[in-house]
Amino acid sequence: MLKKNNKVKLIKYYNLINHNLIYNNKSINRYKKDNFEISEDRSKSLELLKKSIINLKNCDLKKNAKNIVFCDGNPKSQIMIIGEAPGANEDQEGLPFVGRAGILLDKMLAAINLDRKKVYISNIVNYRPPENRRPTDEEIKRYLPFIEKHIEIINPKILVLLGSTAMNALIGNDVVISKMRGKWIEKKFGNCKTSVIITFHPAFLMRQPAQKKMAWIDLKMVRDKKNKLKI
Ligand code: URA
Repeated sequence: MLKKNNKVKLIKYYNLINHNLIYNNKSINRYKKDNFEISEDRSKSLELLKKSIINLKNCDLKKNAKNIVFCDGNPKSQIMIIGEAPGANEDQEGLPFVGRAGILLDKMLAAINLDRKKVYISNIVNYRPPENRRPTDEEIKRYLPFIEKHIEIINPKILVLLGSTAMNALIGNDVVISKMRGKWIEKKFGNCKTSVIITFHPAFLMRQPAQKKMAWIDLKMVRDKKNKLKI
């Protein structure tokens, strides 16, 4: 048993220590991003986010790429589209979806009366993976906090995920695109509440054109939602 005096000393000592520091069991993120609040000024927040990605240390994706590919389109749009990763053309130009898949994406958007000025586009990872391979799970995990923050800053009413990499990264690994596409899912990213729809990636549609009819069903759902929300 502690004597009363020692007990008081012990309590004082514990009060000096921030208990969160001791009991916080969160893992340490070696790729820690700069911490910043989302300001009222969206463009400032986007600039800070971009800077924190540029400041990432120890990332091979970044070391092998020419340019960061951050976004294209209208940051005030209420429709955000997320792909997988930049390819060679995107790496060259520093813009998402400017290669062959981008041409098809533009056509898909045009089919529902949208274009790049009316939507906002980004990717799960911001640097081109070598030989256009799929980003690894570790790379996806490293960039996930950035794309989640990106969504929160844009705060879209409609979020379109292109392909299974974007779907698995943002919805979970326990789902398959064949079952998940063509459905609305309500999801929260920080303070952003949004309606998410998953559809096929344009690069997949170029390899499997028979699936375009399914993508068309999904696009019509986006069009109807956009009209319903008066976007
Ligand atoms: N594929 C993607 O997922 N993103 C791009 O930016 C280009 C091709």
